[in-house]
Parts: sequence; structure tokens; C-alpha cells
Amino acid sequence: MKFNPVTPDVVAALAAIVGEEHVVLPAAADDMFRYTHDETEDLRYQPEIVLKPANADEISHIMRYCHENLLPVTPRGAGTGLSGGALAVHKGVVLSTERLNRIIQIDERNLQATVEPGVITQVFQEAAIAKGLYYPPDPSSRGSCFLGGNLSESSGGPRAVKYGVTKDYVLNVEVVLPTGEITWTGANVLKNATGYNLTQLMVGSEGTLGIITKIVLKLIPYPTQNLVLLVPFRQEEEACAAVSKIFMAGIIPSALEFMEREAIEWADRYLNLHLDRPADERAHLLIELDGNDMDLLFKDAERVYEVLEQFDVGDILVADTEKQKAELWQLRRNVPHAVKGNSVYKEEDTVVPRAELPKLLKGVKEIGRRYNFKSVCYGHAGDGNLHVNIVKADMSDEDWNHKLPEGIKEIFELCVSLGGTISGEHGIGLVQRPYIGIALNPVQLHLMRGIKDLFDPHGILNPGKIFLSSKEVAMQAPVLQA
Ligand code: LAC
Ligand code: ZN
Repeated sequence: MKFNPVTPDVVAALAAIVGEEHVVLPAAADDMFRYTHDETEDLRYQPEIVLKPANADEISHIMRYCHENLLPVTPRGAGTGLSGGALAVHKGVVLSTERLNRIIQIDERNLQATVEPGVITQVFQEAAIAKGLYYPPDPSSRGSCFLGGNLSESSGGPRAVKYGVTKDYVLNVEVVLPTGEITWTGANVLKNATGYNLTQLMVGSEGTLGIITKIVLKLIPYPTQNLVLLVPFRQEEEACAAVSKIFMAGIIPSALEFMEREAIEWADRYLNLHLDRPADERAHLLIELDGNDMDLLFKDAERVYEVLEQFDVGDILVADTEKQKAELWQLRRNVPHAVKGNSVYKEEDTVVPRAELPKLLKGVKEIGRRYNFKSVCYGHAGDGNLHVNIVKADMSDEDWNHKLPEGIKEIFELCVSLGGTISGEHGIGLVQRPYIGIALNPVQLHLMRGIKDLFDPHGILNPGKIFLSSKEVAMQAPVLQA
């Protein structure tokens, strides 16, 4: 068994479902380009056709046709992913959800919202804030990423430390299965003890089990006050060690971000901010406290200061204007762009129990010395989630392609030995797939493959992602063995 090519007949049949104007073919190179990549490294895969359906019905017709004709389908949101999940590695169809972009309802009585998957995360957050409500998950790409993509990866972001990740806000989803059926997965309730949790099975399944067409999200009241502190440390590991101590002092910050000196320096340069941080600062924690009562927040800040006194910290910057706060967040959110602009790189999304963070950072640097790579680390320290950016700089192509994967393997083994795992919020997708066996044992993989086979008997939906499905193994398609 093999996937079939997209012939002129296939193009005609698919165009009849979505309408000619909602089809992109390779001949339209300019329009096609954006669908050939996401934000993962410099990877490029061109699909044979891009479809932009308008609704679940059209998606159902597409899936039924592709299931019957053995055509691979790669679902795509805004293409901001960091693990290659939206790349059409087997060519075939890219199914873009960009036209499903309505906020259907914000239900102020129940603090719930119903949206389509192509809504931009920040657009939705702002619509909720306009009603005094809060949708906390806020990946760095929130200005362009889609909620559907956030669900597929169970995205996190800085506010996860207090408020949880995307999965914690998903109550119910409407999905189109790879075989074309349309179904809701659960109910619009905060508690649900009715059968298996199909909703949470869809969240984080990286577009391999179904295509999300509607989402019911939980909202919370919007916290009106916050305080933002930038704390410099003279040693990176001390910054990591301070993180768990803040929680042990009874404080849950609404963000607790770590940035190595170079992360902040590169972002500063990228944004032309000229912050000129003192030379002895090796790392920073960006700490945000939020709530509704400024006096209580100042009391919490005092407790944070008491914790910080145990460490070798420099002058703490307290952002007290909205402009200053926005500037610090802009700096943090632009670290990934700054790294990308600086060098060819690979980003590993490591995560360990919070108190193991100092060991993780130390281990990453030690592995880097042995394999001769440089890393710039930053991320959601409060979640134990460290983004390790390995920069190519002057490493030879030979070492980058053949030696480095061994070093990455060691980093992931270290994560697992510390009780962590190999992705906290970016997903496995294509690029971490070779390492999946470090984090998941054969029993877990067997269960996951069984679920995949049940949902997608022909293995057509987002093939090549997370792990090889039993159908892909049977096909032995060359790209999969890479
Ligand atoms: C961030 C993205 C890369 O934390 O996850 O900026
Ligand atoms: Zn992140």
C-alpha cells in the first residue's frame, strides 16, 4: 500500500468541494510558499494542493474522498508550529483552517466561548477581555497563531505557570474524523465523568486523529492588576534554583520566565532597545504577579524579595508603567525570533519537575561542552520548561548533521532521568519523532498506535508525525525512514 498522487482528476474532485478560488496549486508559487513551511528551523515541504474549506461539511467531504483514495492530508492552522507538525512530508493535501475564523459566541452567563479553529489567539483574548473575561494561554506567537493549532499542540506560554495550558481550557470540540464523520467529543460542562475523555485525547494529538472544527473554551474573570519584575542573577544556575524557592514561599506568580544573558542580549539587539545590562549579569528571571488588589500584590512581591535575598542578584527592575511592562514582555516574546535571526538553530522544548531545573541547565551545558555546541536557553522556568536553543554558529555541517543528534539524545535522556520529558509545549511533530522512544515505552507506543489505527484506518491524516503509525511502517515510504 502506498499513498496516491494528486492527479488532475483529484484536483477537480477536491476543487468541486471547496470551490476553485479556495485551492492553491504549486503553479501559483507565491501563494504556495507559505504552505511549504512552518516556524520550525528551515524545513520546506511542498504539498501537491492546498485546500481552504469553509466549514465542517466541506472538511468531511474532503476527508471521505482522501480516505477512499489514499491521499495524505496535513491539517494546518497559522503555520507557527515549532516541531514541523504542519509540514506535508508526504506531499498530498494541506488542509488549511484559515477560513474557519469566527468567534461564534462568548457566553457571559457560563464563562464559556465557542470558536472556530482559525481564530487568532490574541484576537480571541482581546474579545474576551472586552467582556471582562480572560483566556490565559498565551504562546509567544499569540498575535498570529490559531486556537486550533494551540489545541493540537496543547500550547502553553508564560501564564501556564498559574493558569494552566491550553488543555485546561478546552471543554468540548467538534471534529471531523479521518473517515469523514463529524462529532462532538464531550459536553459543554466543567465536570464530565461520562466515558473516556475524547476531548482531551484530541487536545495535543497534533492533527493526527481528526480535524478540529469548533471549540468550546472555558474562560475566567480577568485579573485587573499586575506587577512585573526583572531580576538579574550573577549565576545562571542560581536563577534556576530561585524558581522553586518562590513557590515554596507560598507564591504562585502569573509568569516566571528564565532568560540566559545571551537570550536577553540577542532580543535587545533584535529590537534595538539598547538596555545595556551590566556585564556581570548572567541570567534573568522575569516575574509577573497578578490579581485584583494592588496592596496584596505588593505583599506578595515582598515575599518574593525575601526569597531573592538568599541569592546573588543585581538591581531588580520593577516595571511600574504599562509601557515598561510591555517592553519587558516584548523582549521576552522576541527571544525566539532573535535566536532565529542569529544563526541556524534547533530548539529543544525540554521539561522537568521545577526543582530539577538547575540540574537540567547544568547538564545541557555539560553535554554542549562534550559535543562542542553552544546553547542559548530561556523559557518557562516556573513550569520547569526550558527552551534549549542549539545554535549552529561555526559548527561544521558534518558535526551538525551527524554528531549533534547524539548530543540531543543525551539532553532528552537527561530530561527523562530527572523525571521530565522531551516536549512541554511544542509537540513532537516531525523533528522530535526520532527521539520518541526515549520518552515513551513500547507499551505506551503500542496503545497510541492502536488509537491512531482506530481513528484513521488508512493512516492518511498527518502521516509522519509523533511516531510512525502501523500503516506507515507497512508502507515504508522513504521520507519516514529519515
Ligand atoms: C516561547 C516559545 C518559543 O516560549 O515557546 O517563546
Ligand atoms: Zn515557550
